[in-house]
Amino acid sequence: MPHEWDSPEYVHQWVEDGDKSDPQRAEQITALVGLIRRSPEEPIEVLDLGAGYGIVTREILTAYPNAQVVCLDGSAEMLKHGKARLADWRDQLSFVVSNFDSPNWLATLPDNRQFDAVLSSRAIHHTVDDRKQALYEEIFQLLKPGGCFANHDFVRKPDESVRDIDNPFGTVEDQVAWLENIGFVDVECFWQTEGRALFGGYKSGPT
Ligand SMILES: C[S@@+](CC[C@H](N)C(=O)[O-])C[C@H]1O[C@@H](n2cnc3c(N)ncnc32)[C@H](O)[C@@H]1O
Repeated sequence: MPHEWDSPEYVHQWVEDGDKSDPQRAEQITALVGLIRRSPEEPIEVLDLGAGYGIVTREILTAYPNAQVVCLDGSAEMLKHGKARLADWRDQLSFVVSNFDSPNWLATLPDNRQFDAVLSSRAIHHTVDDRKQALYEEIFQLLKPGGCFANHDFVRKPDESVRDIDNPFGTVEDQVAWLENIGFVDVECFWQTEGRALFGGYKSGPT
């Protein structure tokens, strides 16, 4: 069934079920945020791509209490839940409704901001593989030296055929190679299990 991110009922149900759907979810989100190579007190700037109801942003703000986070999502409904859940940190947050399937999303970011980290969880797999590669290049341009891009997402197993036109799911090996070709360093798949992986890399420079 296709996702209905603009439907209040669908989004409400997804948020209700979201934390329960995977017993390893909390651990994976902690591992994702743990890839940022900055000191905990630094006022880092982070982009949560496909932020949804804010589970990744909450972890970022817990680990980096002085962080400023841009929560970007194509669904205004999802961001409504994010705003409510993250109300305690409102002064450190910007919410942007934007679709990263088109390069126009770059113009929706606050004032030419560069980021110490761009993190994403379970969002980019919805994007077709050609566009995914272009998106990874755009993310690379947004990173400060030493900045990190990490994605915890669904991936296709090497022996699995493409599932369907809406979910082409490149393999993690493909995606790691794309990141290396773009110029990311220390690229790795940090964790992988049945059809899900945590992978990413860094822009060279001081950390
Ligand atoms: C499965 S939810 C994950 C939300 C959150 N990152 C998490 O881990 O719980 C996927 C989110 O990605 C957003 N999304 C999917 N494709 C998108 C796109 N092309 N541009 C912006 N947001 C997108 C959806 O609106 C949705 O909120």
